[in-house]
Amino acid sequence: MMFRLLPGMQLGVSSAPAQIEGGNVDHNWNDWYRLGKIKDGSSPGRANRHLELWREDIDLMHSMGIKCYRLGIEWARLEPEEGAWDKEAVRYYRRLLKYMKKCGIEPLLTLHHFTNPMWFERRGGFADEKNIPAFLRFVSFAVRAFGDLVSEYITINEPNVYATLGYYDGGFPPGEDSVMLASKVMSVMAACHIRSYNMIHRLRRKMGYRDTKVGYAHAARVFSPADRKNPLHGAFARISKWMFQGAVVKACLTGQFLPPLRNILDIPPGQYADFLGLNYYTRSTVSRIGDGMAPNAVKNDLGWEIYPPGIVECARELYAVLKRPIYVTENGTCDNKDVFRSKYIYEHLKVLCEDVLPVERYYHWCFCDNFEWLEGESARFGIVHVNYETQKRTVKKSGRFYSEIIVQGGVTEALYQEYVAGEAYHL
Ligand code: BGC
Repeated sequence: MMFRLLPGMQLGVSSAPAQIEGGNVDHNWNDWYRLGKIKDGSSPGRANRHLELWREDIDLMHSMGIKCYRLGIEWARLEPEEGAWDKEAVRYYRRLLKYMKKCGIEPLLTLHHFTNPMWFERRGGFADEKNIPAFLRFVSFAVRAFGDLVSEYITINEPNVYATLGYYDGGFPPGEDSVMLASKVMSVMAACHIRSYNMIHRLRRKMGYRDTKVGYAHAARVFSPADRKNPLHGAFARISKWMFQGAVVKACLTGQFLPPLRNILDIPPGQYADFLGLNYYTRSTVSRIGDGMAPNAVKNDLGWEIYPPGIVECARELYAVLKRPIYVTENGTCDNKDVFRSKYIYEHLKVLCEDVLPVERYYHWCFCDNFEWLEGESARFGIVHVNYETQKRTVKKSGRFYSEIIVQGGVTEALYQEYVAGEAYHL
């Protein structure tokens, strides 16, 4: 055996509604598309047409032996106008969740994954604390609508990526470029996470359930100084890390809001997660504030460094903030030709399985190639290939490898030879 999965560890796949469903829902990413911001001009209105093909997608997942699936619900579909709930959308998600369970696939449900209804976006979204009640009303609606089918929830996906790319870097909607605003958005989202954490527990308890688990999906990367001997580089690495992920994780998990974040709702310190959701992709090597790349780093097709030990480093740091079981809620890579994804999966899983951290789940990002935000359809992260014209799904080599790992409970020498040995990353 090259490595065995940890006892009780389960492997699943991950997705987000706006990246797979399709349809002209009135949310900020359909709006961003209409403004011409998607690099390859593709539209989230097409994506995987999962709204129609969900049954086939779940059947495929089932045939691959996958038993846990992280999926999301689209707020703008459920509440297209403020206070007006769409019954058809509720029926759609209920049918999907019931079918998954019938196939033995357990949901981990994300409530917010980058998309806002336009009525919420237009009045300032998460940049304005006056909008917090609107988000909480949606969370309460969702738990009442789906709480009998779902026991595990992710409140918000990557508050730091949402805030940084939308309010500092400006690439994501609404395209702002202010550090102050980005910090404000993280403060508001951390408050939303904690209030949702408490609310979901309260509502599910009232419904008679005792098995509720709530967390959020934290995006973490490794920040390394370009020159370890240069104290300035070290300082920039520490500052970048704190601004991007350090402050927000402390706020969300423990209710301690340290600068640049503010405790807008006067939330008491506490323990606000039942599992640690970790989204891990890459490392930054910094010589100034912001992002950089190590010379000779191996990279994926989007130019992100591939650095497998980082998944353990980030998980360890999360665990130091709060001792909870770890769910890797995303890990994967853009490999358009599927020529190194099996190696990537192998190396990330191996380091996790050789460590002592309590990793209970690993959700690969992602199942089908899907609408990759600014990159549109041109960046493929899936273990299942999608022909966007015909919507035909084809399991990739990495998908077959992933299925085998699930069935065999780890990677045998034979599996390694068949899937991994011949693969190489590029510089
Ligand atoms: C997001 C996903 C995205 C993935 C790859 C994560 O930041 O949660 O929605 O597709 O990264 O870019």
